[in-house]
Amino acid sequence: MRYDFDNIIDRRNTGSAKWDFADEFFGVKDILPMWVADMDFRSPPGVIEALKQRAEHGIFGYYHVTESYYEAVMDWMKRRHHWEVQKDWFVLTPGVVTALSFITAAFCQPGDEVIVQTPVYFPFFRVIENNHCKILDNPMCLDSGLYTMDMDDLRKKVTARTRMIILCNPHNPVGRVWGKEELYAIGKFCAEKNILIVSDEIHGDIVYPGFTHVPFITVAPEFADRTIVCTAASKTFNLPGMQTSNIIIPNGKLRQQMLQAMERYYIHNLNIMGLVATEAAYRTGESWLTQFLEYLQGNLHFLEQYIAERMPGVRIIPPQGTYLVWLDFRNAGINPARLDKFVREDAKVGLEAGTIFRAKEAGFERMNIACPRTILAEGLGRIEKALRMLS
Ligand SMILES: Cc1ncc(COP(=O)(O)O)c(C=O)c1O
Repeated sequence: MRYDFDNIIDRRNTGSAKWDFADEFFGVKDILPMWVADMDFRSPPGVIEALKQRAEHGIFGYYHVTESYYEAVMDWMKRRHHWEVQKDWFVLTPGVVTALSFITAAFCQPGDEVIVQTPVYFPFFRVIENNHCKILDNPMCLDSGLYTMDMDDLRKKVTARTRMIILCNPHNPVGRVWGKEELYAIGKFCAEKNILIVSDEIHGDIVYPGFTHVPFITVAPEFADRTIVCTAASKTFNLPGMQTSNIIIPNGKLRQQMLQAMERYYIHNLNIMGLVATEAAYRTGESWLTQFLEYLQGNLHFLEQYIAERMPGVRIIPPQGTYLVWLDFRNAGINPARLDKFVREDAKVGLEAGTIFRAKEAGFERMNIACPRTILAEGLGRIEKALRMLS
């Protein structure tokens, strides 16, 4: 079956954060939303069918996670990522960010430091600060369009209060798919310093040809005991509104600590539709995902070509994974302090400002390219036109 990713589906008036909240968020009318990390595509038909069938049943009582659910997730991890997950390692949570918050509450004391590698997905900062912990900022290095981890900086900054690192693997917004060697280096360092590793792998299924996602636990057997991996079907199959995530914690003691943190807020029940959708996605969505990844690669080529031909001064940080692209406007002739206004008010495109990810330097914006190509072309056309008005 061929899926039609070119089809434009009107998402307005569907309670969509990306579309219905954009004008208000950016303070501009008729802005083209290319922000929030969800896709403008329908989920795989197997997911829609499973949800319809569950809806037809008509009784939406409390849910018990089934064997078949666990099997679907475990099969996926094994087949796609060569990762053997065991059933008793699972902790299910309503969303990955929620899980990160419970993890921070479970393993950190107020005043402890949590490492993040900026620029990075900004809710990490809120999770840390909401739990009265300190952000230990370990900015990545950018060299010839490639971001890398700065181990020297990390070595200098770590203190006796450094308790945890939140890795973004693959990395939002810079699109790095971390390799085994880089992950091993950070894992070894954290083991030496007794730092808990939390690897947010929500984007793990979305990688471009030539790159392979490495689940952190598979890097070295000795890391398994000190690692928590956050996974979900939500980015892969466009189900973020379902808020269902699988947090994998091999170490029984750590798992109990996490469950206790959740117990404090009585987080026991999950949304049945989220569980149905997640299982159906992992069971039936693989060919959809293959075609989505091909389409996404086409979008990336289109973007690269468009920028190379028509937007001198703008650069792409070539993503290795994720459908988010980190755009470098530093040489586009725009005052960095005015860049957000330029993109929003002059171009009328809703991109996420680089500064919210705590990029060291102003001049970056994040673009979501998980949309039909005509929408991507429209967004690029608007930016191109606004750039021309500058000169
Ligand atoms: C790295 C990362 N983690 C977590 C999330 C959100 O996860 P959830 O909606 O399950 O809280 C996102 C969404 O963009 C993300 O990019």
